[in-house]
Amino acid sequence: MTSWRGLLSSAPDAQAFGAALGALLEAGDLLVLNGPLGAGKTTLTQGLAGGMGVRGPITSPTFVIARVHPSLVDGPKLVHVDAYRLGGSAELDDLDLDTEFEQAVTVVEWGAGLAESLGENRLEITLSPSSDGSRQVAIVGVGQRWVDADTFVPLARWCDSGEEHDIS
Ligand SMILES: Nc1ncnc2c1ncn2[C@@H]1O[C@H](COP(=O)(O)OP(=O)(O)OP(=O)(O)O)[C@@H](O)[C@H]1O
Ligand SMILES: [Mg+2]
Repeated sequence: MTSWRGLLSSAPDAQAFGAALGALLEAGDLLVLNGPLGAGKTTLTQGLAGGMGVRGPITSPTFVIARVHPSLVDGPKLVHVDAYRLGGSAELDDLDLDTEFEQAVTVVEWGAGLAESLGENRLEITLSPSSDGSRQVAIVGVGQRWVDADTFVPLARWCDSGEEHDIS
């Protein structure tokens, strides 16, 4: 397991961070986004979409639970899921996300406790609002795909301490 921590000082900064992270992603990757209401999960996903070069816009879906954003650069598509209204893992299964999984990067907002079953390799990203309005971001990389902490070197600009690359 690899862990990494950083600080996102504003929404544009969070989008820039998302773009840097998005540029690292490959088909078959799974990201589980956690954090309270308004933590910045959709904002981060907007950045991911920019970094991946998929067609937007990335919005906060009211009725739509999953949206597919095709690539504009011959890369993987982005499947953006908002699991907030899902009743449980059976409803997540009903979305049939695994039919696209290997050709897509799958990002699940509110995915904690639900989306882990989609892939044994995944990034679990938790956004925590600070009292000054910025967001702390904690990433746990689970599985062989994320075992190399050097993967996160391009994110160094956002590191908030000297101990981000611990491997346990
Ligand atoms: N790193 C950040 N620093 C400051 N403001 C931010 C940051 N990230 C997002 N915001 C702002 O927080 C608000 C909520 O963002 P966003 O909709 O992305 O959150 P969310 O976690 O997706 O919310 P929900 O729980 O409703 O899905 C927006 O106004 C956005 O501009
Ligand atoms: Mg959202």
